[in-house]
Amino acid sequence: MAVSRDFFIFRWFLVLGFVVIITATSTVVLGSEEQESDLVTDLPGQPEVKFRHYAGYIKVRPSEEKALFYWFFEAEDRVDERPLVLWLNGGPGCSSIAYGAAQELGPFLIRNNSKFIHNKYSWNKVANILFLEAPVGVGYSYSNKSGDLETLGDRITANDSHAFLLRWFKRFPNFKSHDFYITGESYAGHYVPQLSELIYERNKASSKDSYINFKGFMIGNAVINDATDERGFIEYAWSHAIISDLLYQNILKECDFKMDNQTQLCSSGIKGFLQSYSDIDIYSIYTPVCLLSTDSSKTSPKLVVAPRTLTQHDLWHKLPSGYDPCTEDYVEKYFNRKDVQKALHANVTSLSYPYTPCSNVIAKWNDSPDTVLPIIQKLLNAGLRIWIYSGDTDGRVPVTSTRYSVNEMGLKIKEGWRAWFHQRQVAGWVTTYQGGLTLVTVRGAGHQVPVFAPQQSLSLFTHFLSAKDLPPSRF
Ligand SMILES: *[C@@H]1O[C@H](CO)[C@@H](O)[C@H](O)[C@H]1NC(C)=O
Ligand SMILES: *[C@@H]1O[C@H](CO)[C@@H](O)[C@H](O)[C@H]1NC(C)=O
Ligand SMILES: *[C@@H]1O[C@H](CO)[C@@H](O)[C@H](O)[C@H]1NC(C)=O
Ligand SMILES: *[C@@H]1O[C@H](CO)[C@@H](O)[C@H](O)[C@H]1NC(C)=O
Ligand SMILES: *[C@@H]1O[C@H](CO)[C@@H](O)[C@H](O)[C@H]1NC(C)=O
Repeated sequence: MAVSRDFFIFRWFLVLGFVVIITATSTVVLGSEEQESDLVTDLPGQPEVKFRHYAGYIKVRPSEEKALFYWFFEAEDRVDERPLVLWLNGGPGCSSIAYGAAQELGPFLIRNNSKFIHNKYSWNKVANILFLEAPVGVGYSYSNKSGDLETLGDRITANDSHAFLLRWFKRFPNFKSHDFYITGESYAGHYVPQLSELIYERNKASSKDSYINFKGFMIGNAVINDATDERGFIEYAWSHAIISDLLYQNILKECDFKMDNQTQLCSSGIKGFLQSYSDIDIYSIYTPVCLLSTDSSKTSPKLVVAPRTLTQHDLWHKLPSGYDPCTEDYVEKYFNRKDVQKALHANVTSLSYPYTPCSNVIAKWNDSPDTVLPIIQKLLNAGLRIWIYSGDTDGRVPVTSTRYSVNEMGLKIKEGWRAWFHQRQVAGWVTTYQGGLTLVTVRGAGHQVPVFAPQQSLSLFTHFLSAKDLPPSRF
């Protein structure tokens, strides 16, 4: 299906990602030679740590010329027992290394021009974490055939990510038996369920060799159902005093979120809507914007109003991306350094374009379904563990959207809405549904939840992995 919606703007400035997780048994398999040569030993600016980490390319299929880039961090301890987490960002087109690894939940966060800090709440405290840049055209991932960049979409992303995983396990056979989960955020609300479904389906017919020990997934501030996501997007802006009553009423009157095409009046309403967000950070409505950037496109109006006449390509280039353009600038500079690329075994073919946190070379996204709720429902029925979380100060995929979208599924409530706690304070609210779905909010966190609430995120992640209830009281 081609993405031909006029309402396109809603779908094209999502940034974040998703994660895949695996837990260990005690089998110790010796790592392959390829694994050893992917070991990262001299990353510039890296704090000293006890765990190992690896980075490199996996050729997706022998018959093609696509290579996906990964960065993998072993857990800080008990590597053999811990789950493995693969984090992929959304966008589509944004890098899980530039965002997830370097700004959100990885052990080394770039918080400054020159160096990393060691993230005390890194998710590799409790899991082995794999960051994947997918599809080709994102970050260091590439194809030698430029035509491959024309065919990308949700389907190819899932298919190539699945092929990547099978080959990654061949390089890291010691993690093959670990329990495997997927987690992510933003547009990864598409990627995660879609990849999960592929794994689930292909597992049915798989040999022992291609079986993935998949257990469930977690997604945050995730795009899952356009009509309700969009309704919640508009309502959030009104309920958080960002748009006027008049604009709100006009949009409600003129826009039919169930339709792919929109009227001129709806479009001008949306224009005004986006303008209202242009001086604040839509991904984190109560935090300051970066004013250090010399690139004025990043400081002044962050959200560019995209008239409907823009081509997909133009639109792509005007997308704002990421929470903090200051850290994003540092990240972009860092991953463009030759010495960094060498240490990471990246860009070995001397790509003709620079590293960017969100792709500038993917010009087209060919398929993106309106909803992934049927996939989520199917995987719940299959008994997979599924958690959906939401940082409640994100304006882009706000908590209102997530609540409307989850409600669309019409699931029966098992445990009603209640607070959950971290360090004796309310960290957010949680409700569980019959059939295995858990919905969690994270209080005061923006789109990239681990950036704003690192401790709460680690707690959430840990409880997800162990399938334990989030703390119900202060003590
Ligand atoms: C792309 O081409 C380069 C140069 O010929 C080659 O070294 C590399 O292995 C190719 N990559 C893939 C994924 O086929
Ligand atoms: C960057 O590092 C310097 C020196 O360590 C420090 O003074 C400064 O506050 C840091 N800036 C940020 C944005 O963290
Ligand atoms: C998906 O991947 C498989 C094997 O890696 C390949 O045979 C198939 O053609 C791919 N399908 C699509 C739609 O790309
Ligand atoms: C949108 O498309 C539908 C079906 O093609 C059509 O009936 C409707 O008039 C269109 N609406 C607008 C506002 O263009
Ligand atoms: C890859 O390396 C080439 C040559 O050094 C450089 O010009 C290019 O910006 C790099 N691209 C990426 C994506 O790292």
